[in-house]
Amino acid sequence: MIDQAVQHLRAGRLVAFPTETVYGLGADATNADAVRAIFAAKGRPATNPLIVHVADIETAQKFTTGWSDAAQTLAAAWWPGPLTIVLPKHPSIVDEATAGLQTVGLRVPDHPVALELLKAFGGAVAAPSANRSNHLSPTTAEHVRDDLGDRVNLVLDGGPCKVGIESTVLDLTGEVPTILRPGGVSRRQLEFILGTVREPDLVAAPAASQTSPGQMERHYAPLTPAVRFETAQRGLIHPQTDAQSNGIVVLSPLKIFKKWGPIVAMPNDPTEYAQHLYAVLHELDGMRLRTIYIEVPPEKPEWIAIRDRIRRATVPLD
Ligand code: TXA
Ligand code: MG
Repeated sequence: MIDQAVQHLRAGRLVAFPTETVYGLGADATNADAVRAIFAAKGRPATNPLIVHVADIETAQKFTTGWSDAAQTLAAAWWPGPLTIVLPKHPSIVDEATAGLQTVGLRVPDHPVALELLKAFGGAVAAPSANRSNHLSPTTAEHVRDDLGDRVNLVLDGGPCKVGIESTVLDLTGEVPTILRPGGVSRRQLEFILGTVREPDLVAAPAASQTSPGQMERHYAPLTPAVRFETAQRGLIHPQTDAQSNGIVVLSPLKIFKKWGPIVAMPNDPTEYAQHLYAVLHELDGMRLRTIYIEVPPEKPEWIAIRDRIRRATVPLD
């Protein structure tokens, strides 16, 4: 299977593969046609840069002209893992992959199948999440096949993703390291290594994230209309007449929601919550509900990445 996958990559074709965060839709990051095929398969705007995956630090160094002490320390601590580091781009990474930016987001994923593939291929694999643009990110091979069908040449099945939401994207090209997308590695964990790290409050002021193209779109969303509510708003939810057609995702179940349709009680632990979030939304999305209501987790640092994904998937309850 890995041999076949490598042949596809060498030939400029697309291979979906598991990572610890979500499944990626991969192509050779040094082949402009192959990278264009990713954008076509996803229906993704060409202005949204892709993350470039490599097997190890040595390979990462080949694809940036600006490997730094900070990059080295971070990579040594967190790779393989859910951290993407934005650095100056090496010319061999095609402009298509970075949407014309002179920087590249590099990451070594923590999944045995991904690592085997990347080692066997030896180069750089550009891979966004393996879903159609604006759809939910896939955390199983089945999600990928359901969403992309024959737009992808091969799907490597590595089971369900253990982190469940996308990597933290950290920009090291500015004066202060800046989180462009919250994810599996928290600001506190990064500050432990780097000192001060900037994290624009994406929930309160999404405009602050303009430096990361593609971060502004409604994203990671189910096809079913989805509405978010604060815990204090629980009493304000009055689903439409056809009671069974509204799904509700809550932090802990409450009796008052019982008769209104499927209720999913999510784990109170952010790590476990992240593991299940997309799978739960995929499942509810498949039930053709009228609305999915999602309770927003507490405004605490450990919930930042999850709050970010929920905000992108929903409109607020008014
Ligand atoms: O966990 C993940 O990161 C997954 C797996 C497959 O590795 N990939 C993923 O890729 O989420 P994607 O394309 O869905 O999200 C990549 C985001 C872009 O939307 C952009 O915001 C940011 O990463 N990004 C990538 N390259 C960048 C760059 N050079 N400068 C700034 N932001 C960049
Ligand atoms: Mg994505």
